[in-house]
Amino acid sequence: MTYKLLFVCLGNICRSPSAENIMNHLIQEAGLTDTIICDSAGTSGYHIGAAPDRRMNAAAGKRGIELQGESRKLKPVDLQQFDLILAMDRENYQDILYLDREGKYEAKVRLMCDFATQKTDKEVPDPYYGGQDGFNHVIDLLFDACNGLLDYVVNSEEYQAKT
Ligand code: 4NP
Repeated sequence: MTYKLLFVCLGNICRSPSAENIMNHLIQEAGLTDTIICDSAGTSGYHIGAAPDRRMNAAAGKRGIELQGESRKLKPVDLQQFDLILAMDRENYQDILYLDREGKYEAKVRLMCDFATQKTDKEVPDPYYGGQDGFNHVIDLLFDACNGLLDYVVNSEEYQAKT
């Protein structure tokens, strides 16, 4: 059985694909590709089918990550199918829970920055309308949070029960 992680932002072309690809990189390094799988989605449908933003890809490339994937919109069934859902900011968090009117899956939804151990940011900031520095910051922050997240997952009861 696999433990399933879903990363969510607004457009699914900047932050959440970066989180997905960085996490896959760390999972590969840790030799855990058979037990943890990652996906990402956007709360909006603005960019459905689009590849990751090229400014984001440039920032990721500096850290040895090539972004793969195409944008898709978050759907209600995702809340049922994934084990843990990571929101990049508070607005994403609210928009995810909006699909869960009964509050059945609330415990699965977390803010990505809760898992950062070095950086003190509370949210992964939306870099879309800013300069290249903002994209670089997103990558640094996501490396930190993904490392903490991997630690959290492998030590969780849910992961240990599944694997
Ligand atoms: P993301 O960034 O949510 O990190 O993928 C954005 C991408 C597109 C837009 C906003 C944020 N947009 O407004 O089109």
